[in-house]
This record gives sequence, C-alpha cells and structure tokens, in this order.
Amino acid sequence: MTSLLVTGGAGFIGANFVRQTVEQHPEYTHITVLDKLTYAGNADNLKGLPDSKVTLIEGDICDAELVDALVKDHDITVHFAAESHNDNSLNDPFPFVHTNLIGTFVLLEAVRKHNKRFHHISTDEVFGDLELDDPNRFTETTAYKPSSPYSATKAGSDHLVHAWIRSFGIQATMSNCSNNYGPYQHIEKFIPRQITNILAGLTPKLYGTGEQVRDWIHVDDHNDAVHLILSKGKIGETYIIGADNDHVNNKQVIELICELMDLDANAYEHVADRPGHDMRYAMDSTKLRTELGWAPKYTDVDSGMRKGLEQTIDWYRDNEAWWRGTKDNVEATYAKQGQ
Ligand code: NAD
Ligand code: DAU
Repeated sequence: MTSLLVTGGAGFIGANFVRQTVEQHPEYTHITVLDKLTYAGNADNLKGLPDSKVTLIEGDICDAELVDALVKDHDITVHFAAESHNDNSLNDPFPFVHTNLIGTFVLLEAVRKHNKRFHHISTDEVFGDLELDDPNRFTETTAYKPSSPYSATKAGSDHLVHAWIRSFGIQATMSNCSNNYGPYQHIEKFIPRQITNILAGLTPKLYGTGEQVRDWIHVDDHNDAVHLILSKGKIGETYIIGADNDHVNNKQVIELICELMDLDANAYEHVADRPGHDMRYAMDSTKLRTELGWAPKYTDVDSGMRKGLEQTIDWYRDNEAWWRGTKDNVEATYAKQGQ
C-alpha cells in the first residue's frame, strides 16, 4: 500500500509518468497529482485514468500549507513541477524563479518535517553546454554551469536538494535527464512544434544553423529510469539519465521529421537563433545502467529515434483536438521573436 504524490503530473513528463505507473506499477496503490494547471498543464493529460487510482488536485507547489498536508499523507513525493521552457524564461524569468526555487524549497521543508521519501526531477542543462568537438559527456560529478534563466533556476533547485540531503539527511534521490520527446509534450517544444506545423500546413522552423545537439530520449525511457530509482536507488544519490543520442543535431531531427511526414527533407526554414543557445548536451548514464540495470528501449537515430518519432507523429495526428486550440497563440508568440 504505497501512495505517490506527483507534482506537475498534468504536464508532459509527469502525465506520462502517472500513466505508466497506473499501467505497469500496481505496487503504487494511489497517486495524487498536485498541479497548478499553468498554460503547460492540462487535466486532459490524465483523461481515462481510473478515479479510484488517480486524484488531481489543482494547486501551487509554493502553497506551503497545501504542500505540507499532501506530503504528510503520501509515502513518496516525485517532483516534476516546474516552469520548463527556455524561450519563455528569456522573455519572463520571474515564474521560473518562483516555481522552480521557492516551490522546491517548500516541498523540501515538508519532506524534512514529515521524514518522507522524495525524488527530484532535473535536467542536463544545469551543466551548461559542450563544444561540438568535445568528446566529454556529463556525469554525476560534472560541475554546474547553467546558461539560461530556466537552467539557472533548475540548478538552484538541485543545490537546495543537495543541501537538504547533506544538512538535514532527508531521504531524497535526484535525476538529471536529457531532452525528452513523446506524446503529450506541449507544442511550444521543438519536436511537437515541427510535427504540428506540418499537420497545420505551416513550414517547420529551425533555429540558427541547427548544428546544436540534444541527447534525445523517449519519455517512457526517462520514466522507466525514475521508477527504477524509486525502487532501487540509493538515498542521497544522483543519477544521470540519457539514451546515447548525443550525435544527432537539430538539423538531422527536423529532416527526419520531414521525411517521416512525406515532405522533402529540406522543407523547413531557418529562423532567428535563441540568444545564448547551448551547443551540445551529452549524458553518460553508466551509473544508472550498471548499478540499477536500466537500458533505454528507444535507442539510436536510425532505429530508436525513428521508431519513437513515428509513434509521436501518429499521436499528434490522432489527437489534433488536444493541440489545435493552442497552435495559433504559440505561433503568434514565436512570430514576435522572429522564430
Ligand atoms: P511541462 O512544462 O510540460 O510540465 C510542467 C507541469 O508543472 C505543468 O503541468 C504545470 O502546470 C506544472 N506546474 C508549473 N508550475 C507549477 C506550480 N507552481 N505548482 C504546481 N504545478 C506547477 O514540463 P515537462 O517537460 O513535463 O518537465 C517536467 C520536469 O522534468 C521539469 O522539472 C523539467 O525541468 C524536467 N525535465 C524536462 C525535460 C524535457 O525534455 N522536457 C528533460 C529533463 C528534465
Ligand atoms: O535538455 C533538457 C531540456 O530540454 C529540459 O530541461 C527542458 O525543460 C526542455 O524544454 C528541453 O530544453 P531545450 O531548450 O533543449 O528544448 P526545446 O524543445 O525548446 O529545443 C530543442 C532544440 O531545438 C534547441 O536546440 C532549440 C531548437 N529549436 C527549438 C524550437 C522550439 C528549434 O530549432 N526550433 C524550434 O522551433
């Protein structure tokens, strides 16, 4: 009888995590989702899940009273909630500072008070970026060097977790994962933006030269790793999650999407680059693989990413009602930035 509190469980990765938990992890008897339902959260992401197993509470992780009561009543808190989009953080950093720093602090204080198990979800972006020709990859001991307001606030939240582990001995684990893709991802993000552009008859948009490398991972592989860390991870430890796609650049990804959607591979346009754009991320997940036995199911660009992208394209094609209503606004915001 283990209960889970999932913050941000109505967002992209969190909702996929809740779905995977219901389908594959009967050891978790009840899941409560705490989500503010910002522009990025959507109650429909949890549609079809049994009410007897999943409860959605609309609320803010910065609300200390609410968080205290919820953390107290659950065995484990998995913390996905965040402001997550780099481009938004360049336009208006305040919500990032508020949610990612204050929200994480509020959760940590409740976890400390009630002595509960906590898992913090973080990102490879806390490490900054690598040059294209740098053979190194990020590991659990790489120094932090975030570039954007988003990644700086995620780095700050990681430091809070590290400090609460060391100073107060809380029962926490952490993971830093690379770029996710898959169903339910907000269409502001690179891959779903291009898929929905094509479905809407718009031209796909590549920032700058498109040489940037993201170490793409399917969201289900990320969530499999989180489940392993919950069941077998060592308290106090951090785990790097990545699927070895650090040889694939944005140009190759957009070309593959065009090809899979029956367009010429070069049927996209170059638009203004992102200021301060990180060049390359690359993750070394040796510790997760050797100590916990994790392996991604979706792997290299020719088989794994192709299979994952095909599935993702089908999902956006079959779920037009899910994204259609937000498309014009998302594109209008990008257009103002020349993107
Ligand atoms: P997302 O933006 O799709 O979802 C975030 C969710 O958090 C939304 O449902 C939103 O409503 C909720 N939320 C925001 N502020 C809140 C608040 N104050 N209180 C309660 N809920 C709030 O993000 P995502 O892509 O699913 O990312 C989830 C987590 O994973 C984040 O912590 C992110 O930093 C991390 N991460 C993301 C990626 C990626 O590629 N998307 C990779 C590595 C790590
Ligand atoms: O690395 C993990 C991070 O991945 C997460 O921590 C973030 O929450 C998540 O948003 C993601 O950050 P990125 O900034 O890498 O993702 P995004 O989808 O915004 O962009 C991916 C790459 O594609 C990046 O190099 C910018 C580029 N891009 C993006 C958009 C939206 C384009 O070329 N065209 C686009 O239209």
